[in-house]
Amino acid sequence: MEKFVVRGGNKLFGEIEIQSAKNSVLPLIAASIIYEGKTYIEDCPKIYDVLVMMKIIEKLGGKAYFDKNTLVLDTEGVNDWNLPEDMTKEIRASLFTVGALLSRFGYASISAPGGCNIGSRPIDIHIDCLKDLGVNVYEGESFSFSKKTNNGGITKLRYKSVGATENAIMASVKSNGVTVIENVAKEPEIVDLQNYLNAIGGKISGAGSDRIVIEGVKKFNGKEVRFKPVKDRIEVGTFILAGAVCGGELRFKGESFENSSALIKIIEHNACKIYSKNGKIECVKFDGQTHGYGFVSVDPYPSFPTDLQPQLVAAASFSDGLTVVVDNVFKRRFGYTEQLKKTGADIAVYDNACVINGGKKLSSAEMIAGDLRGGAALIIQALGICGESTISGVRHIDRGYDGIEEKLHLLGADIHRIYY
Ligand code: UD1
Repeated sequence: MEKFVVRGGNKLFGEIEIQSAKNSVLPLIAASIIYEGKTYIEDCPKIYDVLVMMKIIEKLGGKAYFDKNTLVLDTEGVNDWNLPEDMTKEIRASLFTVGALLSRFGYASISAPGGCNIGSRPIDIHIDCLKDLGVNVYEGESFSFSKKTNNGGITKLRYKSVGATENAIMASVKSNGVTVIENVAKEPEIVDLQNYLNAIGGKISGAGSDRIVIEGVKKFNGKEVRFKPVKDRIEVGTFILAGAVCGGELRFKGESFENSSALIKIIEHNACKIYSKNGKIECVKFDGQTHGYGFVSVDPYPSFPTDLQPQLVAAASFSDGLTVVVDNVFKRRFGYTEQLKKTGADIAVYDNACVINGGKKLSSAEMIAGDLRGGAALIIQALGICGESTISGVRHIDRGYDGIEEKLHLLGADIHRIYY
């Protein structure tokens, strides 16, 4: 078993190396199945979810290994389209293999996918849009998919689901016709998926807008492709919110300002000043004047991301005022607040809203992480409190952050991973 021991109260100073985006890398690993060649994903984080996706590629007959920080995926030998429960229960991203396997073989079969414990995560939107695109779906104890036609088609998502958008793109890239997908999610990671698929020979346009058009390609040529994914805007946001609580000055190696603009809008001129050049964040200086973050509505990109909602709630408990957060994406994503309350934080949850009354005296606590981003929120909480806190359930945090304690330690935080 592992836990983090955090002695909070230190300011954070220094430069941070941001990892490639988890939410870009996971669908890219699945998409490599379509290619039938070698994909090199540069600066790939060695996080638990990536390791599980690598096992999935191997189970299907491919090869997946790290060469230093580059993930090498050799999918030429993939010869299976069935994913059993032990491969899918741990990780929701296993669902991305459906679109990729449909493009490669016309078939896919998976058990119900698992994932972070952040509330109900149905797959009905995935199923409905695949059906619109000519896929037969059998729903029993597991899900089986088969292409009855391969001529493209039109579908409109009833909600901007990130995963359903990505699955529909992957399922359509290799076809005999044109596919139009409307009301799609617009996350930067979807643009990355488009760029990767186009790099291997796909003909996709529109990612980042409401409508994606895919001209089907019959065969992909080429044997190797190198791809550098977008940087992890959620990791950027986690460090900025940690800085807002601790104070200090953080330097970045030029992270996209636009991809973090929803966070910047509420935090700039309140907790910090952000210095950017040519659309890239270079430095964030924290001045300790946090007045509460007001009303924050969590919605699909470009709005405030649900994956930073817990970290924002933790930061808000150190501010000197009121913050109200409404999560319209995962409406029950507040389980972690019970842990934050152990420190004395004044947090009340009503349905999909959370009210944080900042400015209370907070004291150290023993906290338990129950999900990835909730776990990151507990770290931020502990960093801001003088005294020794512990955070168990570290395996949840390892799903999405590559050595978060080492990076924080380099910035001056007193945080250690303890094995017991
Ligand atoms: C992705 C991200 C995750 C992020 C989320 C929302 C990856 C690997 N994960 O997850 O980190 O928190 O986007 O930004 O990229 N829904 C349905 N039916 C469906 C699909 C989704 O009702 O078929 C609902 C979900 O329950 C949720 C909302 O739609 O309430 C958003 O889900 P979605 O955008 O699909 O998230 P994921 O792709 O699972």
